[in-house]
Amino acid sequence: TFNLKGKDFLTLLDFSSDEIFYLLNQAVKLKEAHLSGKNPKSLEGKTLGMIFEKSSTRTRVSFEAGMLQLGGHPLFLSSKDLQLGRGETIADTAKVLSQFIDCIMIRTFEHEKVEELAKHASIPVINGLTDDFHPCQALADLLTIYEHKQSFSNLKVAYIGDGNNVAHSLMIGCAKMGVDFALACPDGYKPKSWIVEKAQEIAKEMQSSIVITDNPIQAAKDADALYGDVWTSMGQEEESKARLETFASYQINKELVSYAKDDYLFLHCLPAHRGEEVTAEIIDGPNSVVFQQAGNRMHVQKALLQAILG
Ligand code: CP
Ligand code: NVA
Repeated sequence: TFNLKGKDFLTLLDFSSDEIFYLLNQAVKLKEAHLSGKNPKSLEGKTLGMIFEKSSTRTRVSFEAGMLQLGGHPLFLSSKDLQLGRGETIADTAKVLSQFIDCIMIRTFEHEKVEELAKHASIPVINGLTDDFHPCQALADLLTIYEHKQSFSNLKVAYIGDGNNVAHSLMIGCAKMGVDFALACPDGYKPKSWIVEKAQEIAKEMQSSIVITDNPIQAAKDADALYGDVWTSMGQEEESKARLETFASYQINKELVSYAKDDYLFLHCLPAHRGEEVTAEIIDGPNSVVFQQAGNRMHVQKALLQAILG
């Protein structure tokens, strides 16, 4: 058994392969319980504070609904309304919130802010997306792949596009599960090298591989899953025109998917821009599992909350 009580969840590097696999299995159980109307009231009396410095649909609603289903209470805290938005320090915010509630989820810009919050909070902190990582998303991605493929052996996941937060977390998640991972992106948009090196170390132990290339066809070749994300992430809006041009040949479309396995899955963390990183034909087509993937956010996060607050 696994004791994750009190642990922070800032990146997937914080958890062992076995712990991640355990969380995914707990998520499967919680999903079944939810679908049969039997949610355990395992978080009765617990409050989750959710600080948002960026927009969100899935993260906010899946955490709120998930907390309520387990008998807990979610609090939406917009940084615009918190004193944080008027200059109160992260350290003071962490210490104060720790007096009232049981867990903090935060979505923000610099990853260091989440580390600072976790350092000063006496309660667990969950990363709900930073400029560098999106670990809750990667848990949902892995669960979705697992549901379709029933195992993580002999699988290749290909991510096409920006070497961003979602790419970083997916890369670590695949490495931890021993899934081969290939990422294709233009020069200048590569994932951070320390994260690639870390993922490659983990992959070596798991006897899988991490490949970074600028060639989308090479990445997509024989893939079991193709993954897309926006070319312009939150906070990069002023670069969006240049990015449209740079990423033009990295679109996931009919031609590119022809290199993947016939039964490939299409994944996307959403929100999506049809006609940019993916064509409507692919994201709305028969191989796309993006809404199941979005739904799985709630189930993996319930498993995570139960494990760290349990
Ligand atoms: N995928 C994801 O995190 O979506 P939101 O930005 O809507 O939370
Ligand atoms: N890479 C995107 C993911 C959104 C869920 C962003 O950071 O905006």
